[in-house]
Formats: sequence, structure tokens, C-alpha cells
Amino acid sequence: MTQEDLFKNLIAHTKEYGYIFPSSEIYDGLGAVYDYGQLGSELKNNIKKYWWESMVRLNENIVGIDSAIFMHPRIWEASGHVGAFNDPLIDNKDSKKRYRADVLLEDYIAKLEEKINKDVEKGRKKFGEAFDEAQFRATNPNVLRNARKIEECKERMVAALNANDLDALKQLILDCEIVCPISGTKNWTDVRQFNLMFSTQLGSVSGESGTIYLRPETAQGIFVNYLNVQKTGRMKLPFGIAQIGKAFRNEIVARQFIFRMREFEQMEMQFFVQPGQELEWFAKWKETRLKWHLALGMGEENYRYHDHDKLAHYANAATDIEFNFPFGFKELEGIHSRTDFDLGRHQEYSGKKLQYFDPEKGESYVPYVIETSIGVDRTVLAVLSGAYREEKLENGEERVVLKLHPALAPVKLAVLPLVKKDGLPELAREIMAELKLDFNCQYDEKDSIGKRYRRQDAIGTPLCITVDHQSLEDKCVTLRDRDTMQQERIPIAELYKRVDEKVNMRTLLKQLM
Ligand code: GAP
Repeated sequence: MTQEDLFKNLIAHTKEYGYIFPSSEIYDGLGAVYDYGQLGSELKNNIKKYWWESMVRLNENIVGIDSAIFMHPRIWEASGHVGAFNDPLIDNKDSKKRYRADVLLEDYIAKLEEKINKDVEKGRKKFGEAFDEAQFRATNPNVLRNARKIEECKERMVAALNANDLDALKQLILDCEIVCPISGTKNWTDVRQFNLMFSTQLGSVSGESGTIYLRPETAQGIFVNYLNVQKTGRMKLPFGIAQIGKAFRNEIVARQFIFRMREFEQMEMQFFVQPGQELEWFAKWKETRLKWHLALGMGEENYRYHDHDKLAHYANAATDIEFNFPFGFKELEGIHSRTDFDLGRHQEYSGKKLQYFDPEKGESYVPYVIETSIGVDRTVLAVLSGAYREEKLENGEERVVLKLHPALAPVKLAVLPLVKKDGLPELAREIMAELKLDFNCQYDEKDSIGKRYRRQDAIGTPLCITVDHQSLEDKCVTLRDRDTMQQERIPIAELYKRVDEKVNMRTLLKQLM
């Protein structure tokens, strides 16, 4: 099965089992907006809890806030979003479809990379054991030609984007002979800039220009509260402020399911440090954040850093943590060393001093900032695509299973009476009544036990407890593990401990210490 088919199956699966629904579906949906169903919202909450606790609970010098979505419009002028939070867009005159010019070019580069990988695989097959990949890449004419094309395209794209040269961007699209995937033609309009912020009106206070924006990132809510938190929390540098919340962007190219949405959630942390120490902290946060991802057990090979060659004018280091999504490696999290740009600009635009008095140095200064910024929805997608398996079992049966980390799984255990009579449902209910105080449980007595196991596998429940006739005698139950499908008999009295060991968030957090 191709990755594309697997991705389609995953999307269908998340809808079928109550994880993710297209928004406003009975009205034919709304582009790039999704709703989380009964299981999706549990998964999302568990991811947010993991992030929040790793930041705010494990670090004594990081505190969390919850700032409003609506903010003073001058904030977005100061941050640069009004002037420069743009995407370059281009239309195909035949299909009338609109694209992001840089995304068209990135897709072109991805296709060339795919061609190179195919050539390498051919070489591997041809030369067998004797195959030397590095030498092949350095000498094969096809590979070299495509690598040169990639290099040239990247260089010209970065130069055009940096110089905001929209004509050069269009020329590059023409030179690369990029065609519209729908019409197949090269009949392109000029490239134009498009601001991604949604605006709306705030009341009707006389004298105020009423336009305000839905925040396109949560970070600015942290910057404008920097002094409030520092003073009231008596925070000393280095310290961090974390926040989880909704952000809104009028994305032109909305695709790949919940990867790029118009309404999404971010988990952002701004870490304030002494100027001069920022690169050291940048390196630490780079490492810490990768560790957070790796603890989820989805394989080291599925993550990579992408250090930015092209830095925003205010940044002196930036990297992305990319995840191997079903459509390839793409950004999951950004880590940026943002210098004193944001606080400096808010100081300038608000006219209020946003400085830190350093008792050791006996001087005041604007702190530098390291930002870690990750999308909740992208993490949901990473976790679901890393967990989704279509397995063929030894007995010839097939099962679809979500091998979610137990600490993230929406339902932690299912309690299943073997039959609907003989006092088994009563004992199962008794067990469930105790366990549901600590764990999200499901009770299920319908269909055969095999079918019920499959249903739990499909939603990613790590443990199933089966109550049978013998349970009435020996006060033991069968505990079934989702991944190994192994079953063991254990006393009811031990259930709490066993389930807790398996699903507690402690198992994740401990790996970060
Ligand atoms: N404050 C910095 C900032 O917002 P960003 O790279 O634009 O940086 C950070 O966004 C993260 O937010 C991304 O790595 C991604 O996980 C998530 N994100 C950004 N745009 C998104 C969108 N349209 N849909 C879903 N997630 C998005």
C-alpha cells in the first residue's frame, strides 16, 4: 500500500471512530477547519497535558498563562504581522485554482528529491552488496543533474523571498516549468502578497478604529504579559512563560488534513535569558524538545532537525523539528532564538519599559528570548500517523490498531464481561466503578469478545479486562495487552497498580528528567 493510500485510510479511520470530523459537515464542511470528536478531544487533552506538565511542572522557572485571543491591534503592528505576515499567492488562469508560490516550488523540489531517491534505489538493486551510496550520489549523472536543479531552485527561491521580489518568484515558477496539478498548464497570474490574519470589528466605541485581529500566534500574548508575570511571580532570569491556545490563519493552501488549518492550537513557550547567553539556551532547548518527542516512542528515525539557512531579520538561530508524516518530513515544531526583537518592539510601540533589572549586574536590559512553538493539531496528526497500523495476524485475521503511547490513549482500559449474564456484568461494573475514578474506561458487553477486542484496538485502548465465570470464584480477571495481544490472569486487587504503571503520564515525564 502506498503512503498516500495509508493516509487516506487513516483519515477515514479517525472519522469512523470519533477522533476527527470535518467542521460543519452537514452543511458540506468548511475548508481547513476540523472538529475533534469524543476520542480526538481526549487525545488532544492528553497531548496538551504532557506538554504543559513537561514545561510548567518539571521546570521550577517556567510558569503558564492563558491570555485572551483578542488583543490591542497595535500589538500586531509592533510584532510585524500587519506589515509582513504574508504568503505569496499565484493563480492558475485555466483551473482558477490558487496556490502558494513557495509551496509550488517546494513541491517541485520534493519531486526532484523523490527522483533522486528512486535512482539511488535502482542503483542499490543493480549493484547489490557492492553498492556505495555516497559514491553513487557523487557520480551518477541523473542524480547530479537533479541535485543541481534543487540547489539552484532553493537559492533563487530564498533570494526572491528575502528580497520580497514577487516577479522573480513568478519567473522561477516559469523557469522550473511548473504546471498546475489540476489544469496541467503554465498559464499563471502574477504573484501577489496575501495577509494571513483574520480581522473583525470590536464593538463600536467612538473614536476607536474598530478593526481587531484573531491572533495568528499565541506568542504575543506572552510578550505583552512579560512584565506582569516577571514582577508578580518575582521571576529571575532565566525564566519561561508557557501558553496553550487557539491561533487563526487564513491559509491559502489548506490541505493535508489537520496539518495546515485555519483555526488551530499552539503550545508556545518563551524563555527569557540574559543577552549573550541565548545561543547556549537555544542549543539546550533544541535538545530538550527533541527528547520530548522521542519519549513518545515513535522512532528516532522519524524525526530530524532542519536548521534554517535563511533567518528572519530578528533571529540569530532557528531550527524546526520535522516529523516523517505520511506525506514526508514536515515541520512539527519551531525553535527560534528571537533576540530582544519582540520585547524591544513592544517597548517602542507601547511606550512602556519592558526591561529586567539584573541584581547581579546592577543594570537593566531587555532580555533575549528563545521560543519553542509547536502545533497541537500537528502533534495529534504525528501521533495518529505514528500509531496507525493495518496488521495481518498469525491466524490470518486482520486488525487495524492504533498503537498510541498509553499515556496519550483516550481510553485507558475497557472492562468486558465475557457474557451478559450470570453476575458477570455486575462484577465488571463493580471493577469499572473503582477504576473510572482514575482512568478513562469503557464498558462493553455487546458482541463476541474477539469483536470487542478489535473495537478497542481500533481506538487504541492499551488494556482490556475480561471478567469471566472463574472471576466470580478466584477474584481474578484476564488482562489483555493491545500491542502484544498477550493475556494474563491477575487478581482484581492488583488492577489499579497494573493499569497505573502502564498509562500514567509519569512514564513519559520521567524520561525527560
Ligand atoms: N510564534 C511562532 C510561530 O507561530 P510558526 O512556525 O508559524 O511559528 C509554530 O508556528 C507551529 O504552529 C508550527 O510548527 C506548527 O506546528 C503550528 N502551525 C502553524 N501554522 C499552522 C496551521 N495553519 N495549522 C496547524 N498548525 C500550524
